[in-house]
Amino acid sequence: MLFDIPEEIRKQMHRLEAIDAADRVDGTPRSVRLRQIPPETGRFLTIVAAGAPKGAFIEVGTSAGYSSLYLALACREVGVRLTTFEVLEEKARMARDTFRLAGVDDLIDVVVGDARDHLAGCRDIAFCFLDAEKDVYLDCYNLVVPNLVRGGLLVADNAISHAEELKPLIDRAMSDPRVDAVVVPVGKGELICRRC
Ligand SMILES: C[S@@+](CC[C@H](N)C(=O)[O-])C[C@H]1O[C@@H](n2cnc3c(N)ncnc32)[C@H](O)[C@@H]1O
Repeated sequence: MLFDIPEEIRKQMHRLEAIDAADRVDGTPRSVRLRQIPPETGRFLTIVAAGAPKGAFIEVGTSAGYSSLYLALACREVGVRLTTFEVLEEKARMARDTFRLAGVDDLIDVVVGDARDHLAGCRDIAFCFLDAEKDVYLDCYNLVVPNLVRGGLLVADNAISHAEELKPLIDRAMSDPRVDAVVVPVGKGELICRRC
């Protein structure tokens, strides 16, 4: 069962949910807020990632590691590691603490830096979750899609909540002959692209 979640992972999910909820009402500056996906999106990611073909799992936009914990559930199931990219050193440090406390640090590599400087070197991608600043989504898409394995999946968050800002990405995906794409109304709206 994917959602037979070990107590240490569940504890870290609840801890981060409490911080994120407080961030949204206590005036925490945007750069410091965790800005996590909702749990429903996490469950969706776990199920989709667990069905991905063989290959590498990556994530762009780690924050404190909440979405990574859901991806770790899929990693355990299929026996792969996750590489997650975070541009802010402080958030990467928080994520490493999260993974150690959750007991999944053996499944996840945190890379600090702008993902765009690293994605061209990521080969044979089976699953990618994109959840960073909206102005980098299209660059990330253009770097990830050529490196998806056949049947590999790219999921981008905020496809409905930020539909205007992400219109260039969504239009590109919908007309891209390399992928089949659809937006699904889960959480803030997920764009899913499957490499043909
Ligand atoms: C919306 S938050 C991610 C939330 C996280 N996925 C979760 O649900 O727990 C976006 C994160 O992306 C990071 N970020 C923004 N641009 C980035 C880039 N170019 N490369 C790597 N990380 C980036 C931000 O610092 C921020 O922590």
